[in-house]
Amino acid sequence: MFDQSRKLAVSRRFFLRGTGVAAGGLALLGDARAATATDEPMISGPGMVPLTVNVNGRSYEISAEPCVTLAELLRDGLDLTGTKIGCDRGSCSACTVWLDGAPVASCMLLAIDVGARAVTTIEGLAHGDTLHPVQEAFIAHDAMQCGYCTPGMVMSSAALLERDPHPATEDIQAALSGHICRCGGYPHIVDAVLAVGQTRKA
Ligand code: FES
Ligand code: FES
Repeated sequence: MFDQSRKLAVSRRFFLRGTGVAAGGLALLGDARAATATDEPMISGPGMVPLTVNVNGRSYEISAEPCVTLAELLRDGLDLTGTKIGCDRGSCSACTVWLDGAPVASCMLLAIDVGARAVTTIEGLAHGDTLHPVQEAFIAHDAMQCGYCTPGMVMSSAALLERDPHPATEDIQAALSGHICRCGGYPHIVDAVLAVGQTRKA
């Protein structure tokens, strides 16, 4: 359950009304507010609402305020702190996770809007002690300094390699163009992703 002691401050800005709520989120509310189609604005919160989220192949039943973002839910509700929050406004991509295999900024998505889509975080990329090839390549190419941007970089790089097993430098730069590395580690990061593609080619 979401830790009440760490509950986030409620603001009227975060009340969800009518069309501002996606169908997937409504389905999770499970009460009369979601079930009736009237002209009345539908409001959820500010109290907790029940959610079911599928993260890294595991289903979690959890309650959270409607204003809670997916990034906050992962970190504070599920203790999956590999996902980082940098800007918290969609500008740095540090919080990137996969939603049904596609990279998204988890700070820009409300947890109640995730619905039945599968969330994959950096914790779900490795198989036990076997790291994902991108994680191995980041280590081999010294592609991190402070490491704060690294989980997001890895998630987007791994998604790119799913789409294109042998990306060129320009493809990698385009795929990572929304990611900010304040340590300036871009050359090593691109080298790492290039190396994974070249290894697969070989
Ligand atoms: S923390 Fe989500 S984009 Fe920066
Ligand atoms: S390694 Fe420090 S922000 Fe990228």
